[in-house]
Amino acid sequence: MTKVLVIHGPNLDMLGRRERQIYGTDTIENINNEISRIAVSEGADCEFYQSNHEGDIVEKIGHSDVQGILINPAAYTHTSLAIRDALSAKEIPVVEVHLSNIYAREEFRHKSLIAPVVTGQISGFGKNSYTFGLKALLGAIHAK
Ligand code: DQA
Repeated sequence: MTKVLVIHGPNLDMLGRRERQIYGTDTIENINNEISRIAVSEGADCEFYQSNHEGDIVEKIGHSDVQGILINPAAYTHTSLAIRDALSAKEIPVVEVHLSNIYAREEFRHKSLIAPVVTGQISGFGKNSYTFGLKALLGAIHAK
């Protein structure tokens, strides 16, 4: 069975309560349930991980044994060379997702340090960024 790791970065544990006009009303549990539902229908198995700590995310990536990673690095998108290097070292398909369209927001969000090392990025579709991202990731894994 295809194994995928889903990583949520900092403050995404607050989804549903945090800046709802930007990030929507779904909680991380709702989003994970939706991802699981699609994963099951596509014959994949998902492990979910959320952390507010950069080093913990780096270790999770490094120690994971999966065929692909779906990640919303949240604010670390714009700052973390360490997460970028950890993803780059894995040499497996990775899809970066964002609930909001980071290019339509403040200028400091326009640059992703992660984007150059991932298979692709999906940004701006709310909860659907994750579900589209999962389908894209499974497609990339199966195309390998
Ligand atoms: C985000 C966008 C980031 O700029 C922000 O720091 C987040 C969430 C998104 O999903 O839209 O925390 O990754």
